[in-house]
Amino acid sequence: MIELINVNGRITAPEAAAISPLDRGFLYGDSVYETIRTYSSRPFRLAAHVDRLRRSAEALGIPHRSASIDPEAATLATLERAPGQESAIRIVLTRGVGGVGYDPASLGPPTVVIHLRPCPGLPAGWRKEGVDIAVVGVTRNAVTAVDPAIKSSNLLNNYLAWEAGRRLGVFEPVLLSPDGHVAEGASSNLFIVRGGRLVTPAPATGILLGITRGAVLEIARAAALPVDETTLAPGELRAADEIFLTSTLKGILPVRRCDGWPVRDGRPGPVTIGLMDRFDALVQEETNTGASPGATLR
Ligand code: PDD
Repeated sequence: MIELINVNGRITAPEAAAISPLDRGFLYGDSVYETIRTYSSRPFRLAAHVDRLRRSAEALGIPHRSASIDPEAATLATLERAPGQESAIRIVLTRGVGGVGYDPASLGPPTVVIHLRPCPGLPAGWRKEGVDIAVVGVTRNAVTAVDPAIKSSNLLNNYLAWEAGRRLGVFEPVLLSPDGHVAEGASSNLFIVRGGRLVTPAPATGILLGITRGAVLEIARAAALPVDETTLAPGELRAADEIFLTSTLKGILPVRRCDGWPVRDGRPGPVTIGLMDRFDALVQEETNTGASPGATLR
């Protein structure tokens, strides 16, 4: 069980790692992040994650090019210390260290932190039987606030939604946009299947453009499954034939119940199962390993 933290190129055990209390990431949540996982020790779509990290930083004006280490190279260097382990990696890039006060003029270079840990397993039942979700009262940020397309580490809103979901006894809360449309889960994207079509909230709703969501859209288009990226009313969840969630650490997870109501017969539907199989195959093809979410998400 290898767990390591790389702070600006210094790789240590977690207890020996340190960042300054005057880091803007700590003071203001002024940072962006990525979560990546490996399959047979190889990171899946690392380039896409690093690209999104850069775009998130640019959207917030964080000068990522001035960081003392390159996040992609640092991720690979950290992964080399955990050969043979299935790892989850979190990259955090902050605006840097300086005094209290918003003016970033006197800040040092951005801080890069890479946290590597064993990839958490998911119970097999979640893939086979599905998980429960519910719409909660906490809304996703407006696109005019911290745009949800930015993978910001400022996650209090998501945490409050998760806490509301936990009180309802569900696996993942569903957040609506401020104008009442279905946005996404606290840490996942959401899809429904309706009349043989795949439907998912459009980017303009205010969502994170998930890497797994992108892979599912690619797979669906290659399989000639019609896709609608559109607005989705909460009532449409209850009428869906199938619902599933996507994220790096969850892969594709079927939804069994939404707001306490079974989705169709309460069992994963054929479209979801077909997409899970194709996603497993895609992961194997790209990491060229034989590992799959089904095998590794226990
Ligand atoms: N979360 N939406 C939100 C709000 C997320 O936090 C995530 C991912 C996703 C799915 O994105 P991707 O497929 O790129 O993982 C959607 C990660 C896993 C996390 O919070 O650690």
